[in-house]
Amino acid sequence: MSTKLLHGSAAGFKDGLFPPHSRRGFLHRFGALTGAATLGFSGAGAFAAPTPIQGFERAAADPNSSKDWQPVSDRKIRVGLVGYGVCQFGAQFGFQDHPNVQVVAVSDLLPDRCSEMARACRCAKTYPSLEQLVKDDSIEAVFVATDAPSHARHCIEVLRHGKHVASAVPAMFGSLEDGEKLFAAVKSSGLKYMMFETSAFHEDLTAMRQIYRAGGLGKLLYSEGEYFHYMETPIDSFKGWRVGLPPQWYPTHSNAYYNCITGGSYTEVSCLGVPSRVEHLKPANNPYQNAFGSEIAFLRTSEGGMARMAVSWDTPGLGGEKGRVRGQRGSFDGKYEGLEKQVPDIRRPPLPPGMSPGAHGGSHGHLTNEFINAILQNRQPLVDISMALNLTAAGIVAHQSALKGGEWLKIPQYKL
Ligand SMILES: NC(=O)c1ccc[n+]([C@@H]2O[C@H](COP(=O)([O-])OP(=O)(O)OC[C@H]3O[C@@H](n4cnc5c(N)ncnc54)[C@H](O)[C@@H]3O)[C@@H](O)[C@H]2O)c1
Repeated sequence: MSTKLLHGSAAGFKDGLFPPHSRRGFLHRFGALTGAATLGFSGAGAFAAPTPIQGFERAAADPNSSKDWQPVSDRKIRVGLVGYGVCQFGAQFGFQDHPNVQVVAVSDLLPDRCSEMARACRCAKTYPSLEQLVKDDSIEAVFVATDAPSHARHCIEVLRHGKHVASAVPAMFGSLEDGEKLFAAVKSSGLKYMMFETSAFHEDLTAMRQIYRAGGLGKLLYSEGEYFHYMETPIDSFKGWRVGLPPQWYPTHSNAYYNCITGGSYTEVSCLGVPSRVEHLKPANNPYQNAFGSEIAFLRTSEGGMARMAVSWDTPGLGGEKGRVRGQRGSFDGKYEGLEKQVPDIRRPPLPPGMSPGAHGGSHGHLTNEFINAILQNRQPLVDISMALNLTAAGIVAHQSALKGGEWLKIPQYKL
């Protein structure tokens, strides 16, 4: 990144917006708006053909995604949606298409985004901020799709107002203390909390979870997950939170390839990083004083097994949010191979008719459906507060370990 571009980012830190003249910012946002987001830069700064932001590629529609769907209730949960940033996440998860949801109101701090979001969600009511929206007594549940550093604070605010809450990842941003506060707030509220970890409803991870539960994998001896997302220049973000982001502060997509299969956790970690050659990942150029663009964590699991979980921003090449596992009774890497002759039903649950599975491997619709059904059925959602914190805290401690040259560190454990 040139010094000039860095000034663009620095401006973003102050006011939360990329400057209007920033071509880079414009391209990232424009691309997301058109649904064919444009990262569009090579390392040399030359334009490439438009490509979607990784994860937002359009998947082929599945004509069977609603086969055998049965409503669990005819009640409509009254929902508020917050955050329409560069990923337009508040509108991306199909709340507005779910038969058990009425979108009551939407909010984004930036008026243009707020009105675009209202249009996208077919909702007339807007509030200028989350803090205003949560005062609306008619709202029962809120989806928090704001900037990552605000998730924990915003979710606590929602819970304090007596509403269920779903949060985009990560649960908290680099702070174990924020995780503790969130955990206490969820427990004392008795309300539902769910983190929308997209890997949790990937087709392969769902299959692994079903086979694991049926005993077809046995105890997992080794799990591997990776989130590879090359960002020579960071995607725009509110107040620049993506600039120089420590990789393991964003660990949930990769960590899911153990936690979201088994329901278990990581107990200790040794993680290594390499000082990055990428400009925004140099300590002087980001607010985290972070030097690492790739962090590779080796972890002990709660079953006594092993895991290798990787996050990388600075290695060009094949990207993705992927994983695979090896257990005492079988392994899964794209398909099951193991001692069981018959595997259980590995399909994802049916979605209500008219609801799209959406992006990130067709996971969006499933996350919303799970959250809404958990409220209707008064049960914990799949990615409940303990799974969300176990997924996120392991990465925060992994980054601490990388800063100490790979020292083994204990990871706090969360259980409801
Ligand atoms: N695969 C995935 O799960 C995945 C992919 C992309 C993004 N995300 C997550 O989704 C979230 C949103 O991503 P993004 O890139 O759109 O973020 P962003 O930083 O571009 O935008 C955040 C938006 O939140 C709004 N906001 C902040 N505080 C607010 C408040 N108090 N009230 C109302 N609005 C407020 C801002 O105005 C901004 O428009 C992030 O936390 C990110 O981590 C997850």
